[in-house]
Amino acid sequence: MLAFGVDIGGSGVKGAVVDVTTGQQVTERKKIATPRPSTPDAVAEVVRKLVEDAGWDGPVGITVPSVVRNQIALSAANIDPAWIGTEVQELFRRHLGSRDIAVLNDADAAGLAEVRYGDPTARTGAAMMLTFGTGIGSALLIDGELYPNTELGHLPFKTTTAERYASSKVKEAEQLSYSQWAARVDEVMHAYSDLFNPQTFIVGGGISRDADAWVPLLTVEQDVVPAQLRNEAGIVGAALAVIENTMP
Ligand code: BGC
Repeated sequence: MLAFGVDIGGSGVKGAVVDVTTGQQVTERKKIATPRPSTPDAVAEVVRKLVEDAGWDGPVGITVPSVVRNQIALSAANIDPAWIGTEVQELFRRHLGSRDIAVLNDADAAGLAEVRYGDPTARTGAAMMLTFGTGIGSALLIDGELYPNTELGHLPFKTTTAERYASSKVKEAEQLSYSQWAARVDEVMHAYSDLFNPQTFIVGGGISRDADAWVPLLTVEQDVVPAQLRNEAGIVGAALAVIENTMP
């Protein structure tokens, strides 16, 4: 059971062939810089190149940093506004030809992959996945089933929003130390905990590579498990979504 997974982000588009029975990538992961402007056609062309370079002609799952309802992108927070209203099946079929394609939100894909292949703590009960990158992505899962398209990074927070306060991009831009940044993440996670009361938090995104430097500083009462697939969860979740026909 193989599928090509593609993760479209604000800075890079990356993909690999994934074995969905194990969650392992079976080809080397390739990354191409996100084109600027990151319009749907320019990005879809990069996806075509990744798939073609891998010599892959099977199913393709694709994540976007947008709300995707009925396979229409409805938002575009860290990507060109031209994505809003784009019929994503039609877009990718035009670039990839006729084959199985599934498109879903990037954090939703990461959440699906983590509850399936990651820390077993998150497999049962109510889990909240958070991805820290250019923004903050979120996914809500109950016994491994997804409630799609939550946008908790956009929660109004202090004088701004959660993601403008505590994404890893903000850490870089404001040159915050791990302890300074973790304190912000902690405040945001307390707010999420008060509103949603998950049993488990899964924290991912590129910065989960350094989980040891900040996860122990968090004070929420829940178990906080670092994403085991690290920053690859989006690719793996995208592949899983197309095989399982998960198409929000
Ligand atoms: C977007 C979400 C996305 C997250 C992570 C947010 O700004 O609104 O859809 O999941 O960034 O990329």
